Amino acid sequence: MFESVTKKLRDARKIVFVTGAGISHESGIPTFRGKDGLWRNYDAMKLATVNAFYDNPKLVWEWYNERRKNILYAEPNLGHKAISELEKYVKVIVLTQNIDGLHQRAGSTEVLELHGSIVKIKCTVCDFKSEILTEFTQIPPLCKCGNVLRPDVVWFGESLPQEIWQQAVTHASKCDVMIVVGTSLAVSPANTLPIYAKQNNATLIEINPEETIMSSDMNLSIRSPSVVALPKFVSIFK
Ligand code: APR
Repeated sequence: MFESVTKKLRDARKIVFVTGAGISHESGIPTFRGKDGLWRNYDAMKLATVNAFYDNPKLVWEWYNERRKNILYAEPNLGHKAISELEKYVKVIVLTQNIDGLHQRAGSTEVLELHGSIVKIKCTVCDFKSEILTEFTQIPPLCKCGNVLRPDVVWFGESLPQEIWQQAVTHASKCDVMIVVGTSLAVSPANTLPIYAKQNNATLIEINPEETIMSSDMNLSIRSPSVVALPKFVSIFK
């Protein structure tokens, strides 16, 4: 790793991680784009929309139910664990697009879930919200009010939870170092977070086996899987 970036890491008061589906790849959770982005020949991008849900709530719920089961049995990997271990040495904030909860299960204490959580549900009509860790007996599940429940996640065309988004922008705007891990940066507004960091002259590091649309803005791009790259960051602080 370049010496100047290593020094920035050691001197940082706050490191902000922006994470995406790639960090959970080695935990057995498929990414959204590329060859993993198909389920029963349906494009994941098309299922994660309000229109798909209202057209066919049963189909979208079957997709979520399968993902829920997979995620509930998945374990955090060495990448998630390395991020949580960094908290021993420096303030760490995780801004994640993932809905799998694996950062929290790895022990990270400051995680903002930009796109919601797969274990949370809400009613499509009343203000009922809850967390369900078990399987549903009926698909689509119904609320006590009689209407259909939906996953409490952000679908294409929906806004991010505004309070969480504002906090994310504040963290991004004030960090010394931002490490962008396992995201294609294809989805707005999460993909603007590195821009806020850059405006604050933060050092930008990317961990991704593939190039992304912001690779040329990075101070350092590490082209390896996050399970390999992230544990090496911890050793810098030891
Ligand atoms: N380590 C690090 N990165 C990896 C790994 C790995 N082992 N494997 C794949 N990647 C990278 C891919 O190269 C790709 O750039 O992870 C990225 C995954 O990109 P996407 O599938 O587009 O996932 P993400 O960026 O999280 O998607 C953003 O899109 O569908 C919506 O709401 C959904 O939160 C999601 C959002």
